[in-house]
Parts: sequence; C-alpha cells; structure tokens
Amino acid sequence: MFICLNAYMILLEGKTLAQKIRDEIKEEIKKTGFHPGLAVILVGDDPASKNYIRIKEKACHEVGIYFHKYIFPADCPEKQILETINFLNQDKDIHGIIIQLPLPKKFNTNKIIKVVIPEKDVDGFHPLNLTKLASGKPRIIPPTAQAVLALLELTKENLNNKKIIILAKSEIFAKPIKYILEQRGLKVKLILFKEKKWSKKIIKADVLIVALGQPNLIKKEMIGQNTIIIDVGTNYIKDKLFGDVDFEDVKNKASWITPVPGGVGPLTVAFLLKNLIQLAKY
Ligand code: GUN
Repeated sequence: MFICLNAYMILLEGKTLAQKIRDEIKEEIKKTGFHPGLAVILVGDDPASKNYIRIKEKACHEVGIYFHKYIFPADCPEKQILETINFLNQDKDIHGIIIQLPLPKKFNTNKIIKVVIPEKDVDGFHPLNLTKLASGKPRIIPPTAQAVLALLELTKENLNNKKIIILAKSEIFAKPIKYILEQRGLKVKLILFKEKKWSKKIIKADVLIVALGQPNLIKKEMIGQNTIIIDVGTNYIKDKLFGDVDFEDVKNKASWITPVPGGVGPLTVAFLLKNLIQLAKY
C-alpha cells in the first residue's frame, strides 16, 4: 500500500483499501441476495462529471448495485430535475440519489440538493444530514470526508497538535472534512480559494488537504517541508487525469502524498457504495 519513492516521501495510495471495501460489499450483496439501487442525476456535459459517473457505474456493477442514470442537457428546466428527484424519492427500488456536482451555473445547487430526502442522501449533502454530522451524530458521512480520514489514518502519524489546512473551492466538500477531523480532536483551518493570500497561508500546514478543481496548481514553493498532502482534485485535460497538486514538483518536499489517480478518488467511490448499503438497511 505504501511505496517509498525517495528518502522523504511516501506514496499514500487509496486503491488497495478501496478494493477491500468493494470486496466486502460484494460479499454482503452476494450473501443477502439483496441488490440496492443507486440513482445518479447528471446535468450538462462536464467531462470530469461524466468520467466520475462512469467510474461509479463500473463500481456498482462490480459489487451488484443497480445503477440508474438520469441525464439532462445543461439548458433543461429546473422543474424537470426537481420532478425527477421527487419521483426517485418515492421509488422503492432506489436507496440513494446523487446529484452530480458541479451543476451548470444557472442552477441553484443548494435548492436542488435539499429536494433529495435525507433518507436517500447518499452524498450526505442535505442540510439536515450536515447538521447531524456537525453535532457529532451523523446519519451519513460524505464519502470524500471518509476517504480523507481513512488516508490520514493509513499514515499512522500522530496528528495531535499538527496544523491541518483544507484549501477548497466550495464549502460543500470542505466542511464535512473539517467536522470529522475536529471531532477527532484535531486542529483544522478551512481556507477558501476566493480568500486573499491563500497561497501565503497554506505554507504553514503540516497536513494540506486540497479540493480546488485546478489542475497542478499547488507547487513546491507553496508548501512547507515534510507536509502530508491529500489531493482531492480530479481534473481532466484531454482525457488525462490530474490532481490539484503538481505531484512531480512537490514530491521531494512532501512526507506523504496521495497520487491522482489512485488516491482519494477510488476511496471516495468505495465509501459512496458503503453509504448506499447503510441507507438501504434503514
Ligand atoms: N462531484 C465530484 N465529486 C462528487 C461527489 O462526491 N458527489 C457529487 N454529488 N458530486 C461530485
């Protein structure tokens, strides 16, 4: 699981643990004979979103989860999406609903996310589920947050009193990560991409979690020596996948670093399937 590339840096992969989680789910579905259903709503043709959905679909097929895709053009009326969500909310064969993000700009993301009933909110983005998470009594933990936590645990580093910084474009992915790390007694600061001087602030991080959607933006001058780097970025340039961190540039300065692909991504998908199983059992 860990590959030492040089004297300083250890590659922090998520692939092996992700496979283990998928194998456990597959075994459980085989044993019970019960196949949960996952519905994904995609609006528009963002290449990263299309790829994400392809990966989620493949993972569902592998373990025996029924995958239902609802694809809308970017200019479709909001009403049509809301009606589809309401239909899926009632459908007994559907146990989880994903609104693939980002939605095209004209849509009100918060309004649309709220229409998914909390009981089928497999992403954990519904405000009621976020409130439960923030209070320390989660119904569901967003898969990205579970993936980040699992990767940090894999390092077995003692992170007490370490400075953990999340640099993110939006709060929707970042806040759940902050909550669950803080609930484990860790010190976490969230810096939004729109803040001035973010690049001066992240250099102080012992652990840097980056979720920006900006390929290779983070360079070695921006990080401190021996930083643990968790790269949540998934960016496609001409069908090739890049993280938000310039891996080749920073690799001699980081102590641990997640690769893209093969780091956060596969674990996020595995935890999504695990969340679905949990919701299907309610
Ligand atoms: N877009 C990128 N990652 C995710 C995710 O985990 N969930 C949803 N709904 N959209 C995403």
